[in-house]
Amino acid sequence: MIKQTKAESIIKNMSLSEKIGQMTQLPPYIYIHNSEAVVYGTMRNLQLNETQIYTAGSVLGIGSPKEMIELQKKYLDNATHQIPLLFMADIIHGYKTIFPVPIALASSFNPDIARLVARISALEAYTSGIHIVFSPMCDLTRDPRWGRVVEGFGEDVLLTSSMSEAMVEGYTNFQKFGEGSVACCIKHFAGYGACEAGRDYNTVDISRLSLYRDYLPAYKKALDAGADMIMTSFNTLDGVPATINKFLLRDVLRELWLCKAITIADYDALNQVIEHGAAFDQMDAAYKGFKAGLDIEMASSVYMNMLEKHVNNGNIEESALDEVVKRIIDLKIKLGLFDNPYSGANIEKEKQICLSEEHLEASKKAALESVVMLENKQLLPLKGTEKIALIGPYANNRSLIGPWSWMGKDDIHLTLSEVFDKHLVFVSKKSVLSDYTKEEIEEIRSADVVILAIGEDASLSGEAHSRSDISLPNKQEDLYSFARSISKKLVTLIFAGRPLLLNKLSDSDALLYCWFLGSQSSEAIYDLCFGFANPSGKLPMSFPRNVGQIPIYYNHFNTGRPFNKASKNVYLSKYLDVKNEPLYPFGFGLSYCVFHYEDLKLSSYSITSKEKLDISVKITNKNNYRGFEVVQVYIRDYVAEIVRPIKELKKFKKVWFEGFESKVVDFELNIDDLSYLDDSGNSRCENGKFSVMVGTSSIDVLSEDFYFLIN
Ligand code: BGC
Repeated sequence: MIKQTKAESIIKNMSLSEKIGQMTQLPPYIYIHNSEAVVYGTMRNLQLNETQIYTAGSVLGIGSPKEMIELQKKYLDNATHQIPLLFMADIIHGYKTIFPVPIALASSFNPDIARLVARISALEAYTSGIHIVFSPMCDLTRDPRWGRVVEGFGEDVLLTSSMSEAMVEGYTNFQKFGEGSVACCIKHFAGYGACEAGRDYNTVDISRLSLYRDYLPAYKKALDAGADMIMTSFNTLDGVPATINKFLLRDVLRELWLCKAITIADYDALNQVIEHGAAFDQMDAAYKGFKAGLDIEMASSVYMNMLEKHVNNGNIEESALDEVVKRIIDLKIKLGLFDNPYSGANIEKEKQICLSEEHLEASKKAALESVVMLENKQLLPLKGTEKIALIGPYANNRSLIGPWSWMGKDDIHLTLSEVFDKHLVFVSKKSVLSDYTKEEIEEIRSADVVILAIGEDASLSGEAHSRSDISLPNKQEDLYSFARSISKKLVTLIFAGRPLLLNKLSDSDALLYCWFLGSQSSEAIYDLCFGFANPSGKLPMSFPRNVGQIPIYYNHFNTGRPFNKASKNVYLSKYLDVKNEPLYPFGFGLSYCVFHYEDLKLSSYSITSKEKLDISVKITNKNNYRGFEVVQVYIRDYVAEIVRPIKELKKFKKVWFEGFESKVVDFELNIDDLSYLDDSGNSRCENGKFSVMVGTSSIDVLSEDFYFLIN
């Protein structure tokens, strides 16, 4: 006799409606009417009765450990089956200790930092009774108009995959960390970042080739790293909403990747397939969702109200439903909920560890590595003796943590003016030029250095916050021109959730792209400005010169008519009114160190598929500052059946240098690095000539060619 698993024996005793309940996630205020939890999205009238809500399998968001305990208890007191609720929540860049927004974190090019961020976020979330975090967002982003670039890791496949993988490891590493780990739900499957014109929720129409090559690898890496759940995206793909897209949910996820993760719809998205024009009504949506492979619906009641009818009239087999429910119960078992339904929730511990000194220190470490220095004309680091005028809307603004930190609080952190205090001779947050008085202008003029703190408000990025114009809002360019014209030396600090147009600003004496850095923003910026730390961030997205260049990314194809400045031919791939290149390229970022690259060596100029290629480069720090350098390795496969990008990041390492230190940095490439995915997701590799490029950014590289032979 085959022994039943624990999940199977639980399922055996469940009624059909109890099983369907497990496939539904409800917001907490359905149970606690004065719930403190913040839940995004407009709630429809779910039309659920008391019996139904006590069959639901999970809850979205929770206000505190106290609330979690209260809700779980109330639920178990009323539920007939006694299967505890799973609590899930959006922990995007920290729970109460807030870390840099993901696009900033990506600028660190440091997966170890991402792992630490996720680890601490998990510890804090766990004590509040959260079992599953909706993070990381693995969507590749090439369009800065899209508000959600702030939640992702940028335009590169390897960087997005590595950061996603590290976050998943940090959240979930039960074996390594034991208590205090959570499960995670990666999102948004798939291709959400390619929404047309950068408008949120808009159509996605990408080739299968681009899907497999560019968009899918990060989700796959995150799943392989141990994510137990995957959320579908709001967009359509090939004309079918991802929520009910069988190709994505069955063919790719289950068949190609053999993945067992639970699938969950995004907020109300199963209902929205009707608006998409992909289902007649809820009955149709429920059928299509289930058949496509959607396990749980979030914040809507299509399954709860319709699935039972489909089973009763024979459209859906109950055994197919059992498979889904088993996945959910198995996860509840894995998370220890049957041993302790209140698992994690600990009122005292939450108070003790959230925002602890250790966690804030980690937040500062992450912030220090996330800032990208785009210009420095021998101004930074400041000596400490300068008289500084600090102006602009961020001069004494407490909202520096960035969008979507559900439990993060702006008002408990220090402003720039509070931290820079003793160096300041003048502070003003006025953002409009005409508001400055004559006296104020004179005071600013008399300062040795002006620090101009400008950017986008946190509310201008994030979900449903796309912009068609990504220049500095509210005439801040005028404020910049004014500051430039009256300052002896000008440091510009930019706060933003996306790449902005910076053309004018590049004549700053120093330009720091700060994104939003979390709880320790001001402290980290202070340390960087005064040289207590050295900038090491690199851009995870290309910064365009104008909106017309979008989408712009470094790993594009060559075309049949690549632009060449030296050529007299006008019929080349170019614009008449703007260069092809971005203003600041992917992988770019300055340091107080000056790094010199030389002696790029390959172990061989021809390797076979069984061999690996060893690469080394000598890097010398030419001055006395100490700091990190992100060493980047790109390849180009010159000729293939399916054309390959002109450059692809294949490896990167963040290496520490003492003053005047030289180091030889090594890398290794093997057949996997030289292979590519075709339009069916199959890996291919071909004989031929490749180039390997090693450098400090995607455009500043040393290169050597070699041959690859399949044997
Ligand atoms: C977002 C998801 C999020 C969910 C739950 C949706 O609107 O797209 O990223 O996880 O809400 O809050």
